[in-house]
Amino acid sequence: MSGHSNSTHDATGQVPAGATGTGTGAGTGAGPPGHLVVFDTTLRDGEQSPGVSLDAAEKLEIAEQLARAGVDYVEAGFPVASQGDFEAVQAIARSVGNASDAPAICGLSRTQLSDVDRCWDAVHDARRARIHVFISTSPQHMEHMLKMTPAQVLAETRAGVARAREHTADVEFSPQDATRTSFDFMLEVLAAAVEAGATTLNIPDTVGYGIPWDFGALIQHIRSEVAGEYVLSTHCHNDLGMATANTLAGVQAGARQVEVCVNGLGERAGNAALEEVVMAIRIRPDQFPGVATTVRTEELARASRLVSRLTGYPVQFNKAVVGRNAFAHESGIHQHGVLADRSTYEIIDAASVGQVGRQIVLGKHSGRHAFSDTLEKMGIKTQGEGLNRAFTRFKELADRKVEISEADIEAIVIEELGQDLVDDFQLEALEVSGGTVGMPHARVVVSRAGDKVEATSDGDGMIAAASAAIRKATAVESQLIGFNVSSVTGGVDALGDVVVQLEADGLKVSGRGVSTDVVEASARAYLAAVNRLLRIRARNQERRIDTGF
Ligand code: KIV
Ligand code: ZN
Repeated sequence: MSGHSNSTHDATGQVPAGATGTGTGAGTGAGPPGHLVVFDTTLRDGEQSPGVSLDAAEKLEIAEQLARAGVDYVEAGFPVASQGDFEAVQAIARSVGNASDAPAICGLSRTQLSDVDRCWDAVHDARRARIHVFISTSPQHMEHMLKMTPAQVLAETRAGVARAREHTADVEFSPQDATRTSFDFMLEVLAAAVEAGATTLNIPDTVGYGIPWDFGALIQHIRSEVAGEYVLSTHCHNDLGMATANTLAGVQAGARQVEVCVNGLGERAGNAALEEVVMAIRIRPDQFPGVATTVRTEELARASRLVSRLTGYPVQFNKAVVGRNAFAHESGIHQHGVLADRSTYEIIDAASVGQVGRQIVLGKHSGRHAFSDTLEKMGIKTQGEGLNRAFTRFKELADRKVEISEADIEAIVIEELGQDLVDDFQLEALEVSGGTVGMPHARVVVSRAGDKVEATSDGDGMIAAASAAIRKATAVESQLIGFNVSSVTGGVDALGDVVVQLEADGLKVSGRGVSTDVVEASARAYLAAVNRLLRIRARNQERRIDTGF
């Protein structure tokens, strides 16, 4: 990293627990000394992952789960980006941000005064609200993107932070692309931000350039050079696969806020993963003495599944903590060891991260009341038309599958919740024929806003025929670039879980579908991807500004 090569940290980078900046941390999320503030940015940075487009209802659903998981902050969006973003942030501030034990709700803002005001309008109905002001400070960004001199950036920082501070005592400031910024200039900007009233200084490794010991040293330097009361925060991208390692190095060097995303989502290669950072702190107290989060770790797997379903981003099987293989043991020696004592090959108890699914006693004779009761116990809120559709899917499933698990219910309900009844295409009917003799053939009926369209097609296989028929029926041209099938649970009657990736006009989107029939799951996934494509196109037209990172 540029400009701070005279590292003064010791070889281990270890610092006393509870250290926050040069002071105790004045932000409202600072908590007791040693409390590590978990700032989740799945709905803002995570939503900037290529192909992800969440609507307001989906964002609300994720925010509710984050609240259940006990994160301290939910960065709900970038209100000035579009009217849709503004409304989604406002809805989250008004509902999730007002529950008892609610996380604080944060909105992102550029330094322009009108942006800051707009951000405040979106978040201020929450019980605790934060404005996160950012501006780029690296030579590359100042010259090529902002077209500003360092003096102008300094002035912008002062003005933006001071304006935010007029609205709230909880103001975060980020010098974007910090790890490629001249150290002296960064110190100047950070000192100006503190003077203007920033209570959290976030250090973004915007392009994932950091290496753990270097990033840790950077945090340590800032702590010793920038005077005042503030909480230091990390925001690490994963371009070199080191986002979690860099985040932890930052914590070891005294950062007391971590910015993270569920499943490590985020721009390009993503951000540090919520579940990895939280579990590393939990499992290795020897490395982080006195430091703790208040995250309810049993909710991590559920958060992961929910985000994966709503974004269409599958979780890799061997993903740490929340991957389906994270607790699977293949070799005989390992199985033997784990059966004798779990600690032989596992450092995390699967139940402690919610990876042990509960079996539920619902079957084909269960009524709507029992079904909605179960959903409520699972913490899934749905009513009206959403509940009706989910119940219909549940009944279809109960006809085909003997044992229905919590994961099955979650999969079908979330698929239904992800649909917009008015603007989305719905799958009304699917008929396929195929085999070793003759050409596979499919007939589909899709509807949109009450209008039904039927189409037929042949294909190389039944899935290809169904996809081609959907392409005709929706008249949305795209290329199939990815197809993945797995099962929600084990057993011969398990739900097939299909993820389809489409590309059109340079846009990549994914969609997910579940069914005991893999062809049906594929058709649902294909249609979900088409719907997402249409939504992103509409949103891109509406989006007024870009964050530029
Ligand atoms: O990566 C980045 O620099 C950001 C900032 C807005 C914090 O996301
Ligand atoms: Zn970022």
